[in-house]
Amino acid sequence: MAEDLYIDPSADKPAKYRSLIPQVEALVRGESDLIANLSNVAAALRQTFGFFWVGFYLVKDRQLVLGPFQGPVACTRIDFGKGVCGAAWERKEVIIVPDVDKFPGHIACSSLSKSEIVLPIMKGNEVAMVLDVDSDRLGDFDTADEEGLRNIVRIIEQIL
Ligand code: SME
Repeated sequence: MAEDLYIDPSADKPAKYRSLIPQVEALVRGESDLIANLSNVAAALRQTFGFFWVGFYLVKDRQLVLGPFQGPVACTRIDFGKGVCGAAWERKEVIIVPDVDKFPGHIACSSLSKSEIVLPIMKGNEVAMVLDVDSDRLGDFDTADEEGLRNIVRIIEQIL
């Protein structure tokens, strides 16, 4: 199993995602434990992009419960439909929020968080967890992040 990531720090964002995807595939291929894999995926994303907060919320008993993450301490439970994470779960859709203060019901785990992207991770027809990435800058997420993170989500869906 690869223990180091090799990402060119001078590469642009799409190139970093292109480089990261096969390395994440290799990372999870060698390990069968889901929590170990989610932990490394969160670390790989933080290491590559320096995100303010990146992690997973897992669906448990009709709530999202905090899973492996990198960043400041965060809210532990989110109800169905609540916040950006709960909305992504309810809609089964990727949600990009350029300004969290303008998203009705946004859950502010940290006042430093300014923009956010949340992607549902499916097991069959049901959402099994969400991938949540927060930035301390406004409008920090674009279609390159959506495309790159969708590829990360696909890798995780294959091991669920
Ligand atoms: N802001 C999220 C809550 C999770 S934290 O940002 C880590 C939301 O509104 O769902």
